[in-house]
Amino acid sequence: MNPFEFATATRVRFGPGTVARLAEEISDIPGPGFLVTARDPERAESVRRALRQAGRTWTEWRNVGEPTVSAVVQGSEQAKASGSRWVVACGGGATIDAGKAIAALATNAGDPFDFLEVVGRGLPLRARPLPFIAIPTTAGTGAEVTRNAVLGSPEHRVKVSLRSPWMLPAAAIVDPSLSLSLPASVTASTGLDALTQLLEPFVGIRANPLTDALCRDGLPRITRNLERVFENPAELEARSEMALASLFSGMALANSGLGAVHGIAGPLGGMSDIPHGTLCAALLVPVWVANCAALASERDPDNRLSRYREAAQLLTGNPGADTADGARWLAEMVGRLGIPRLRDLGVTRESFGEIVPKAEAASSMKGNPVRLGPQGIREVLDAAW
Ligand SMILES: [Fe+2]
Repeated sequence: MNPFEFATATRVRFGPGTVARLAEEISDIPGPGFLVTARDPERAESVRRALRQAGRTWTEWRNVGEPTVSAVVQGSEQAKASGSRWVVACGGGATIDAGKAIAALATNAGDPFDFLEVVGRGLPLRARPLPFIAIPTTAGTGAEVTRNAVLGSPEHRVKVSLRSPWMLPAAAIVDPSLSLSLPASVTASTGLDALTQLLEPFVGIRANPLTDALCRDGLPRITRNLERVFENPAELEARSEMALASLFSGMALANSGLGAVHGIAGPLGGMSDIPHGTLCAALLVPVWVANCAALASERDPDNRLSRYREAAQLLTGNPGADTADGARWLAEMVGRLGIPRLRDLGVTRESFGEIVPKAEAASSMKGNPVRLGPQGIREVLDAAW
């Protein structure tokens, strides 16, 4: 068996109502804090209530859309100026990443590009971030248990990561009741992002027995519950199942990496403002088909194709399913959830020339079970268009 390692948030609290226990996570950190909320700050009301009841004070900062480098620099300046000793973020993956980056930059002065991958120098952080607590309101990105923050750099037209083992949250509070009011389209795209994040680590080259266990458990939870929450948004039990699957997906991707869906979705997202989950959902089936075709026709020493077969069985619930059954099942589900094609999202074929080399260089692409190459990536884009 190959050696492996596994790291996650220091503490995970899971379940409806757990947000009320937020103050326990910061009880040993005196002083004021910094609360990062999403576009609709009302959604963080239960967080404020928990802090108020514990007599804590804080400064609030609103994240709108996917965070940029300059936005989180401005946030970290405000966190420093207000004397914040801890950071809490309550929202979707973008808001959690914003909070994670603010907590890191608040203690690491200087040029943020020193620490950024791809467009910067990629140096390690010099100091530990402020203690950071992640409270997700979507069931999708798993950002509450990852060690990176995805930031837009509009001048480079890419999204890049600020990454450090120190950026794993001190606590992840996953309270499914916070996702009850999520709109159907966000439920669908974030749910399919979670599905992709359970599939790619499972078929990828860095899979390990611990993340395999999470993926084998998580994939059927998504198939049993994603359409249920899409149709009945207020069903707490199904929302809880999705929140758990999303948490597992974050743990899996943080420790076993991703693949071509994320490798291509990254640069596409950097060049547009299409939500990450929507892009992943649109690319999911074309990448499945391309990877299986490449594995079937090339050397497959680790028998990654058998991983795809097992994933097809986990998704369909049919122990006799093969990879083609899996692709068909996924395509039907993506259709029922109303995921648009790339052309309907405003992506032009002329942009493919810029996307292909960026996708090839993306860090997620390194986990893909087979090298697709420029031609293979182009075929995926054509199929998703
Ligand atoms: Fe993702």
